[in-house]
Amino acid sequence: YNRNYSSRRSTYIKAIILGDSGVGKTSLMHQYVRGTFSTQYKATIGADFMKKDVDLGDGRIAEVSCWDTAGQERFQSLGVAFYRGADCCILCFDVTNMRSFENLESWRDEFLIQVGPRDPEGFPFVVVGNKVDMEGKRAVSQKRAMEWCAAKGNIPYFETSAKKDINVESAFRTVVKNAMDQE
Ligand code: GTP
Ligand code: MG
Repeated sequence: YNRNYSSRRSTYIKAIILGDSGVGKTSLMHQYVRGTFSTQYKATIGADFMKKDVDLGDGRIAEVSCWDTAGQERFQSLGVAFYRGADCCILCFDVTNMRSFENLESWRDEFLIQVGPRDPEGFPFVVVGNKVDMEGKRAVSQKRAMEWCAAKGNIPYFETSAKKDINVESAFRTVVKNAMDQE
């Protein structure tokens, strides 16, 4: 780890993005890091990462590496190797896809098994319900998602759209800040 560079006072933070295939993990990362969106779907194989410096505005800078993992089962085998050393985790589902919400539990459980943090209940997760621009096709209510988050140790919940750039920055910022607070 390149933690706490004395010259820049920045802290290295590794963030992992998890969730079913097609929920928009790659799209969320691209929107967050580059400010771009594509309607084209290209499955992530293994994992991919992008870096971004985040100024928390309180004198702290996080040098964030976002790891975007594969949701498709056949591309996941390498995936868990990337979980190691994660400081925080973004659990994603698609608000128009109930199954992707139901699968959050196993994404979270598998992540905790692989990473084995000392305090699993206090680990910096955020849950992201993506594709809220498709409100007419919503299958998972905000209430239901919030109840799940509350039951898992009060995980912060964000409803996002990678397409319309809604709440993407807030979700990432929150999980990075919570990870920094644990350093
Ligand atoms: P895997 O790499 O297979 O795990 O999928 P992924 O979770 O990375 O999904 P990806 O970001 O590739 O997005 C899948 C599809 O959903 C693409 O066609 C995106 O354009 C679309 N998509 C992603 N985010 C949004 C969103 O917020 N709104 C809408 N309407 N479409 C989205
Ligand atoms: Mg992807």
